[in-house]
Amino acid sequence: MRARIVGTGSYVPERVLTNADLERMVATSDTWIVERTGIRERRIAAPGEACSDLGTKAAERALEAAGLTAADLDLILVATCTGDSPLPSTACLIQHRLGAVRAAACDISAACCGFVYALAVGEAYVKTGLRHILVVGAEVMSVITDWTDRSTCILFGDGAGAVVLGPADGDRGILSSHLHSDGNLWDLICVPGGGSRIPPSDKMLADGLQYIKMKGNETFKVAVKTLEESARETLSANHLSMDDLDLYVPHQANARIIKAVADRLELPMEKVVLNMDRYGNTSAASIPLALDEAVRAARVKDGSLVMIAAFGSGLTWASALIRW
Ligand code: UT7
Repeated sequence: MRARIVGTGSYVPERVLTNADLERMVATSDTWIVERTGIRERRIAAPGEACSDLGTKAAERALEAAGLTAADLDLILVATCTGDSPLPSTACLIQHRLGAVRAAACDISAACCGFVYALAVGEAYVKTGLRHILVVGAEVMSVITDWTDRSTCILFGDGAGAVVLGPADGDRGILSSHLHSDGNLWDLICVPGGGSRIPPSDKMLADGLQYIKMKGNETFKVAVKTLEESARETLSANHLSMDDLDLYVPHQANARIIKAVADRLELPMEKVVLNMDRYGNTSAASIPLALDEAVRAARVKDGSLVMIAAFGSGLTWASALIRW
């Protein structure tokens, strides 16, 4: 039995931070940011607005789209690297807020690939007989962003997206998932402090180790390579070609990365979903947010062949092919 997405939802915080705002914070310009990344603005959570607040709202919308209630859920998986706190899992907090009394709940940590990893775990559980699984990608990246570092602070934003999985009939559903990681590249993108290696301390905070550090150029090259490889792997595993693909929903990290991948794959940009101009890189939230927008804009129709693909800290990369 296959798993299929029976509903999607998303939520972004109200506050908009534009490139013009960033010009007043660091030595940058709207022109530089747009040319190098494709990002024009991003959303920022309000003080006190946490990951589970965003994730719950996205989940409620996905449940509504699916025509289900929280009591129908068997499992809640939340992909995030900016959960409310180390314990309990953000998934348990979302369970509490939704009133999903029957569900099991846990978080999945795979940075920007988290949603694709969580979807694959959910898919596997539908295959073992669970009926309804909520998969959420939610992030408050603004709290791990160093707003004095122009090389990273222009990139990230806050948001959440969610899908509900259920059993599929016929040919529809998730055709395959492909998960990869290479821990040798762990230091391309990392938050060094705040965990068990460098626990929170005054010195840790003074050194700024609670913030994302990234080797941007190297990450860029690996991203293009892994996204190209995973697209080819995913289609070939299903004996399909690039021409069969209706929509490509990549992780929204950088428009130049995505255009380079589309060029290599000879994939027309009309088939590619881009929304980083409005949200920046929302890590694990980026794919479900983009997917929900595409569904609501009717860019995804019954029978559409949709590929999702991500890369991120770890280094991880992952993809899935879905017959809608
Ligand atoms: O989900 C997480 C995955 N992460 C990513 O996908 C990030 C991948 N990498 C990137 O997106 C790009 O590497 C960046 C957008 C981060 C940087 O773009 P780049 O074209 O690779 O720029 P660069 O790092 O090579 O820097 C070029 C120049 C440098 O100046 P010099 O040394 O040539 O004088 C930087 O200091 O641009 C400078 N620079 C900036 N200038 C204006 C770096 N950041 C900025 C800025 N505004 N915000």
